[in-house]
Amino acid sequence: MICLTLSSPTLELCLEEIRRNREYIGMAELRLDLLNDDEAEKASSFPSMTDVPVILTLRRKSDGGRCTLSERQRRALLLNALDGDFAYVDIEEDVKKSDVEDKARERGIKIIRSFHDFSGMPDDIYSRIYRLAERGDVAKAAVTPHSIADLMTLFRIADELKGVEKIIVGMGEWGMPLRILYRKTGSMLTFASSGKEVAPGQLSAESLSKLYRADKVNDKTAIYGIIGNPVLHTSSPGIHNLGFQSINYNAIYLPFLVDSVRHFFSLAEYLKMRGFSVTIPFKTKVLMYLGNITREVKQIGACNTVVRVPGMWKGINTDYYGFLSPILKDIESGRIRTSIVIGAGGASQAVVWALRNRGVKVTILNRTLSHAQELATLNYCGYDTLENASKYEGTVDLVVQTTSVGLYPDFDQNPIEGFHFSGKEIVYDIIYKPKMTKLLREAEKAGCVLHFGEEMLLEQGKLQFEAFTGYHYPKDLHPL
Ligand code: ATR
Repeated sequence: MICLTLSSPTLELCLEEIRRNREYIGMAELRLDLLNDDEAEKASSFPSMTDVPVILTLRRKSDGGRCTLSERQRRALLLNALDGDFAYVDIEEDVKKSDVEDKARERGIKIIRSFHDFSGMPDDIYSRIYRLAERGDVAKAAVTPHSIADLMTLFRIADELKGVEKIIVGMGEWGMPLRILYRKTGSMLTFASSGKEVAPGQLSAESLSKLYRADKVNDKTAIYGIIGNPVLHTSSPGIHNLGFQSINYNAIYLPFLVDSVRHFFSLAEYLKMRGFSVTIPFKTKVLMYLGNITREVKQIGACNTVVRVPGMWKGINTDYYGFLSPILKDIESGRIRTSIVIGAGGASQAVVWALRNRGVKVTILNRTLSHAQELATLNYCGYDTLENASKYEGTVDLVVQTTSVGLYPDFDQNPIEGFHFSGKEIVYDIIYKPKMTKLLREAEKAGCVLHFGEEMLLEQGKLQFEAFTGYHYPKDLHPL
């Protein structure tokens, strides 16, 4: 169940938050510490104003809340609110047994016994959760994972603490997979916010419910994802989850921030993942964990898609065809015969190989000449430094940009500043945020045909979808 954490200062605005999110949520948490003082006094009336069960929480500053009342005043405010028909009341682990607890039990309001760790995770997390639940309460652990190994510890709670009623929250950006796959931890609910502008790793009720269908995950749900660092900005969940929904496939695709590829493969085994996309900086690092790779992966030296096949993981590269697809006709017709490729990093590898494989002449231009030379030697290309870019003005049919220069938020950067386009070139920037980079803006002014990173992203994603599911990507979907 998705629980909306209400963050408005008045009860009326909190109700409005519930109304806006009603179709996505099954519960709400009323945070007395976020309400104005006079509104907090009236909180007991709140549960009867809405049809969703409500958790009552008055979070202290030391636990990440805003309440600065003395413990006596805090108890009094909670006691007052407990006249209302709340479904649960949250009481922190260290709070001694008091009249708040007695009143909750008397009124049949269940207790959530919580602890928070904003810096990391306690070593004894399993026994700690177990102790919290001892008196028949719901145990809540809100902790801060910092690695894939931490995530593994938290996912294993489902097996380690079977039968314990609990809520597991992974705070910060590392915790995002736990918020989405909360049912895999055995967690009773996941918390969501109502706004779009939320803290790293936090999600809105709408995206948890609509994009991820987090509350529909069950034992049969096939799990897919994307690994990278950074990765939370990725658009790939939009492509795949929409595709899964459209073909009625019980599957979910989510981002995993990764530190250790080795640890991620263990987690992927534990979660019985069926496949995942790979992005910067892991496209080469995954190779050593694969039992089988395609010819393209071998020749490009990079893998962007991993799928489970019987007994092993198989590596595929859909980047090269995703890149090629929008310009393939122009290559086949002979409109594109010569090119310059800017950049010699991981992304450039697939681009250069794709062009050479189709017989296009390539000159690699790069800031560091030795990197360009290395890639050029492997693929029989010319190479030069970025400063010499003007030498190639008017000589090529295609210009491809593969570096991170111009990427959000650096809208005003162009790796070949001052390059004069003749207007006859086809110009392709594989950056997709922003869609229109500075380089493309200049090419457009000169009248060039443009291609966008978005096209490549979508094409490579569709091919991944086929590799993941065995189905073509639905034709009428426009996920970006
Ligand atoms: P990716 O996997 O996205 O290609 P990468 O392997 O780090 O990332 O490669 C980054 C590419 O962008 C390289 O060609 C890099 O040039 P160097 O080989 O000289 O490092 C290029 N690049 C990154 N920042 C750049 C900058 N500020 N100016 C010019 N080129 C840059």
